[in-house]
Amino acid sequence: MTDLVTITDDGPVRSVRMNRPDKKNALTSAMYGAMADAIDSAAEADIRCVLIAGLPGAFSAGNDLQEFLQAATSGEGLGSNVIRFLHALARSERPLVAAVQGVAVGVGTTMLLHCDHVVAGNDARFATPFVNLGLVPEAASSLLAPQLMGHRRAFELLVMGRPFDAATAQACGLVNTVVTPGDVDATALKAAREIAALPLEAMIASRSLMRGSPDDIADRIDDEARLFKARLQSAEAQTAFADFLARKR
Ligand code: COA
Repeated sequence: MTDLVTITDDGPVRSVRMNRPDKKNALTSAMYGAMADAIDSAAEADIRCVLIAGLPGAFSAGNDLQEFLQAATSGEGLGSNVIRFLHALARSERPLVAAVQGVAVGVGTTMLLHCDHVVAGNDARFATPFVNLGLVPEAASSLLAPQLMGHRRAFELLVMGRPFDAATAQACGLVNTVVTPGDVDATALKAAREIAALPLEAMIASRSLMRGSPDDIADRIDDEARLFKARLQSAEAQTAFADFLARKR
C-alpha cells in the first residue's frame, strides 16, 4: 500500500495518478506495485479505460535513482514490482490513456509507448537518458519505439538521450494531442470517457488486432531486464546514480 499513487474510479474510467510531488514523481517499488494492481484489476472491476496521470510539472522523473543504486549495490535487477507493472502495461485488457504534464523521464516516457492515447501539455519534456546512466532501454521500448518512430528517431531518444519537446513527441506519434498544461487532465479524461463509451467487445477486439500478441512485448521486457540487471552492476551506472544523488550536497 502507498499513498503516493491515487486510484479513482469514475464510472467506467479508472484514474491512476502518481502523486509524489517532492520527488517529481520518481517511482518507488510500492508505486509500481500500486499501478500494476490498478491496471491488472481494471477489467474485473468493470473499468473500460485506465487513465494514467501525474502532477503539474511532473508526469514522472522515472525510476527512483536511490532505489536503482540500492539494487545495483545489492546485486539485484529491476524489482519484481517494476516487472509486474511493465507486464501489466503490455497485457492490459483495457485501453490506456495518459495525461502528461512537465517532465517524463525514463519509464515516464517508455510507459507511454504502451498507451493507446496520449495527451501532453506544451510544457512536456520527454527524455530517456538510459545510456547516459550506463543503462539500456526498458519497458520494451527497444522494440516499440523503433516501430513507432523509426530507428533514427528512436536512436536519438533512447540511445543519444536527447530530450523531445511536446511538438517533437507529437511528430513522432508518441503523443496525440498537445494542449496547455491546465487543459491536460480534462482533455485526457474526455478521451478516456469517449473510449469507455464505445461498444466494449468490438473495441477490445479491434485493439487486440492492432496491438498483436502481448507475448512478444513481454518477452522483450524480460530480455531488456536481464541486460538492465547486468548494467546496474556496472561502474558506469553506479557512478552516474551516485553523481545525481550527490549533486547538491
Ligand atoms: N530519483 C530520485 N529522486 C529524484 C529523481 C529520481 N529519478 N528525480 C528527481 N528526484 C528528486 C531530486 O533529487 C530532488 O530531490 P531533493 O529536493 O530532495 O534534492 C527532487 O526530486 C526535485 O528534483 P530536481 O532535480 O530538483 O527538479 P528539476 O525540476 O530541477 O529537474 C528532473 C527534474 C526530472 C529533470 C531531474 O530531477 C532529473 O534529471 N532527475 C533524474 C531523472 C532520471 O535520470 N531518471 C531515471 C531515468 S532511467
